[in-house]
Amino acid sequence: MVIFLMMANKPILYQSYRRRKGGINNHDSNMREYGELNGGYNLLDIGFGDGDSIINLSTDSPINIFGVDTYHVGFNKILKLKSKKNLKDLYLIQGDIVDIIDSFPPNFFDKVHIFFPDPWPKRKHHKRRFLNEYFLEKLREKLKKDNQIHFASDHINFFLDTKKLISRFLNIEIEFLQNRVKRPVTKYELKALKNKHKVFEILFSL
Ligand SMILES: C[S@@+](CC[C@H](N)C(=O)[O-])C[C@H]1O[C@@H](n2cnc3c(N)ncnc32)[C@H](O)[C@@H]1O
Repeated sequence: MVIFLMMANKPILYQSYRRRKGGINNHDSNMREYGELNGGYNLLDIGFGDGDSIINLSTDSPINIFGVDTYHVGFNKILKLKSKKNLKDLYLIQGDIVDIIDSFPPNFFDKVHIFFPDPWPKRKHHKRRFLNEYFLEKLREKLKKDNQIHFASDHINFFLDTKKLISRFLNIEIEFLQNRVKRPVTKYELKALKNKHKVFEILFSL
């Protein structure tokens, strides 16, 4: 019970993200626009990093894509590419997803990508993992009824902790996927494969 209550606390953003040059909490659009996008297919990519996967996704599909990351270098890089390729359906926000999520309307997202989030393997750092009961509750409010969340990691212990967290949250046993389902290849996935790490993934709905 004590463990459950501790897990329900607000995740603590790694201080170094706040100190990084460029600060946090930048966005490339007017948040008020989001309400107008309510009827479309909306995908949220949490922690898009500095890879190009979000750009490829945006070029390939006629959907609204919202990318959130704390990392200003990645944010600025993707912002430039967005403008160069004139990607009007891509919305970029730099900041902590745990706070940013509040700025979206309820019942907004169809799909969420969480690819290779920081595993924070040491127990004393688990409080930095943004995926916990506190965040899942918040996220649930922002999802449409038929929603899909895709989580992938090459860190076995983090993956098993997350699988357990979600199974407990939903009160059903979530199974990991036996085969890779269609998703963009990210920079961290390439890194994992280069290091011969196995990639584990789950698909679930909240
Ligand atoms: C290990 S990288 C993975 C990047 C990308 N998804 C990939 O697979 O290549 C994790 C990313 O999550 C971002 N991140 C960490 N905590 C975050 C938070 N609370 N809100 C938004 N982004 C976060 C980091 O800045 C980093 O870019």
